[in-house]
Amino acid sequence: MKKKTVRDIDVSGKRVLMRVDFNVPLGEDGSILDDRRIRAALPTIEYLLEKGAKLILVSHLGRPKGFDPAYKMDNVARRLSELLGKPVRKLDACVGPEVKQAVEEMKPGDVIMLENVRFYEGETKNDPEFARQLAELADIYVNDAFGTAHRAHASTEGVTKYLPAVAGFLMEKELEFLGKVISAPDKPFVVILGGAKVSDKIGVIENLLDKADTLLIGGGMLFTFLKAKGLEIGKSLLDAEHLDYAKGLLEKAPDKIVLAEDVVVADKIAPDASYKIVPVDSIPPDWIGVDIGPRTVETFSNYIKNAKTIFWNGPMGIYEIEAFAEGTKGVAKAVAESPALSIVGGGDIAAALEELSFADKISHISTGGGASLEFIEGKELPGVAALLDKGCCCCGG
Ligand code: 3PG
Repeated sequence: MKKKTVRDIDVSGKRVLMRVDFNVPLGEDGSILDDRRIRAALPTIEYLLEKGAKLILVSHLGRPKGFDPAYKMDNVARRLSELLGKPVRKLDACVGPEVKQAVEEMKPGDVIMLENVRFYEGETKNDPEFARQLAELADIYVNDAFGTAHRAHASTEGVTKYLPAVAGFLMEKELEFLGKVISAPDKPFVVILGGAKVSDKIGVIENLLDKADTLLIGGGMLFTFLKAKGLEIGKSLLDAEHLDYAKGLLEKAPDKIVLAEDVVVADKIAPDASYKIVPVDSIPPDWIGVDIGPRTVETFSNYIKNAKTIFWNGPMGIYEIEAFAEGTKGVAKAVAESPALSIVGGGDIAAALEELSFADKISHISTGGGASLEFIEGKELPGVAALLDKGCCCCGG
């Protein structure tokens, strides 16, 4: 069901409470290491300001247990102000008399950033009273925090019980692209899966197996599949609990599942490790698989080149170490060059794509980690379910 968006409501002169996911990675000194999530919310923020809304932004940052100065929103508000080119008034609370006072003073086009909403116990508990207090600040609620939509928290779900709730442009875009993957992907549909554990990807595999033409498997999870084929994997990562699952899958869909043919093996996981490329049936005992090899990159690239839809989740190797990043880079290049509709889920690869300057060539890079996986698994996201459906009679759409 399509959701109402900011386009469907009149926000002029109204107080708008907008949930954003500004949960950005921070350096040791509290600086913002990657501001993609802030930039991704700008189209909605700018639209609402142009339409004369009084904009109250709320987000979580990290997983603080109560108040924690390391997770205050000050740096985030400062960065947002730079990006918007206008002042953002940062408050030290989310609810209470001072916040109410500040909101009363707002004029159309003003922006307030509330404090980290996870400083309040009521947020993760989805406490109705806390949600009501948040809602009291505004006339309309906008959710643009796709990355947090899998959480039924006060600022993502509870608050919608008290205010008309619509999606922002980022939320709309995420639902449109990821929705395409699970509803009607143009064929051939190629799914690329990597990352460490098979267990993290079971839900995705189960939901996409029938829809996909090919599943390319790399990353740490590859080695459990190689073991399931009866190959020796040395000291590579093994998800022993899911070995039978991998065996079952290889039997069920032998033509769809494409495993690596060659891999990079190393004597240790460190930048100064010794490493070499070997065929998958010749992994020496004591060596660790750390990346897919060049022959595999070529094979995977052929599938990618001929695809019409691509969904990619999880790196192909330990790409944080330069020598083991070639597989991920090679696949990234192939996806960037493919004419297919390409959708990348999860934070890891998004950062790699940006670093390689391939980000512009990808149809959609999701801002969600857990949220995009749960969506692709076919689960209903509470933060999405709570928004008004298109065509419903509330607030005129
Ligand atoms: C994320 O980074 O995946 C989202 O911001 C959600 O954060 P959480 O896992 O702490 O709820």
